[in-house]
Amino acid sequence: MNTKNIIDKTRLYVEKEMADDGSGHDWWHISRVWSIARKLGQSEGADPATVELSALLHDIADWKFNDGDDSAGPERAAEWLRKNEADPELIDEVCEIIATLSYKGAGVPTPMRTIEGKVVQDADRLDAIGAVGIARTFAYGGHKNRLMYHPDESPVMHQSFDDYKKNTGHTINHFHEKLLLLKDRMNTESAKKLAEQRHLFMEDYLDRFFKEWNGDA
Ligand code: NI
Repeated sequence: MNTKNIIDKTRLYVEKEMADDGSGHDWWHISRVWSIARKLGQSEGADPATVELSALLHDIADWKFNDGDDSAGPERAAEWLRKNEADPELIDEVCEIIATLSYKGAGVPTPMRTIEGKVVQDADRLDAIGAVGIARTFAYGGHKNRLMYHPDESPVMHQSFDDYKKNTGHTINHFHEKLLLLKDRMNTESAKKLAEQRHLFMEDYLDRFFKEWNGDA
């Protein structure tokens, strides 16, 4: 099958698989990441097919929904791409990106080897911040039955992926443990610019959140 057809078919497959999710990892997350990744990929001169397939398949079996198993995602993506007779080199590239993409804690570096990986990681992280990021964070917290906020629990800067996986803290802590750190962890210049505005919006949001929480606004 040619690559264009594989991309079209993958889009339909992912849309169907992820239609009903209520945790902020639904099809529309994928669709936004796909669209941002394509734009970033163009400015960075990345290979479009690798970028598109990695963006489309990046959450197909996320560790957050597979008992912490971070090999489920790349395996399921590889299975799908092999079934559709994608080029073996392309499959390797895509699976490497999916395997190394995730945020793993405040103190854990997550370097990407290829420009395609950098672009897709940036796109996924851009969708985790700003107005949409805030909405997704509370949706995920609700999905995990977490408190929105607890004044006595401070954020934890996780130093290992295992500790980060076990985290059960309230949703406001997640801003400090991940979201507010993302602007400085963008790989590409174009993503850094977009992240700046989204970051400022989150700071304003938190400011307002605490004012209202304390009855000062
Ligand atoms: Ni994602």
